[in-house]
Amino acid sequence: MTDTSEVKYGRPSAAPAVAGDAHEDRKPVTVPEIRGRKGGLPLTMVTAYDATFARMLDEAGVEILLVGDSLGMVVQGNTDTLGVSVDDIVYHCRAVARGSHYAHVVGDMPFLSYQITADEAVRNAGRILAQGRAHAVKLEGGATIAPTIRRIVDAGIPVMAHVGLTPQSVHALGGFRVQGRDAEAADKILADARAVEDAGAYALVLEGIPGELAARITETLSIPTIGIGAGVHCDGQVLVCYDLLGMTADLHPKFVKRYDEGHTRVVAAAQAFRDEVRRRQFPGPEHTFGMRKRPLPVAGTG
Ligand code: KIV
Repeated sequence: MTDTSEVKYGRPSAAPAVAGDAHEDRKPVTVPEIRGRKGGLPLTMVTAYDATFARMLDEAGVEILLVGDSLGMVVQGNTDTLGVSVDDIVYHCRAVARGSHYAHVVGDMPFLSYQITADEAVRNAGRILAQGRAHAVKLEGGATIAPTIRRIVDAGIPVMAHVGLTPQSVHALGGFRVQGRDAEAADKILADARAVEDAGAYALVLEGIPGELAARITETLSIPTIGIGAGVHCDGQVLVCYDLLGMTADLHPKFVKRYDEGHTRVVAAAQAFRDEVRRRQFPGPEHTFGMRKRPLPVAGTG
């Protein structure tokens, strides 16, 4: 608990939020540790876009924070992820990296930041690590993008791959639709998964595919799979933090479990604030600064 008597006007520092609690012996999560979790204790990955959420998710023991290009939708308010830039990812990665102390931070490579040439891909991935302070990048695609993954990995940058429903291809896919439901499409996704593993990816996101297919890919690969809408048999699970917290009123996708009703709670808190301000109940005396007491007059002066 922060001693607020020292926080006169401002914010608590970025001191480790978990110091002194049960996580004290935690070590930063690394690529070898993530690889080592294949077939073991399932990994958790949650998206984060700012330091405050990063600090809370880190404190909760979430191993991987993904600065997803989903920020185009949940932070920027767009209907897809296509407008996100490398500058956006770098900016949000820096905030997340400042807020987290143990979690492995992954920066998503935005649309067209890695598809044009492998040289550009390496440069952009490098910026996400050097300027964004992320530990790895994630990019979408299978066999066709595998040579680019190889180039980035050869530059010393860990790559998390992403196959199945790849949101940057929303228009080519005809919407955010489950992929790999028939045998031919499933075989292609399995081949894509093998290709990205062979290219050197250290982990693989499986999004929006049937549970049986995700189980087959997980069994086949030697790198961990992290599922979203891909059933329980992956080596880990990822959710967008706003979905996990129930921040949206009107969106209830089948693959999301709402662990809280954040939307209802935030609206209620903001309404309570508005009502107390209107009734002049806030700020109370405990929230109001006083004047300094006048010093006692020195004897003989008057
Ligand atoms: O951008 C994102 O949040 C993602 C996850 C949904 C895996 O790619």
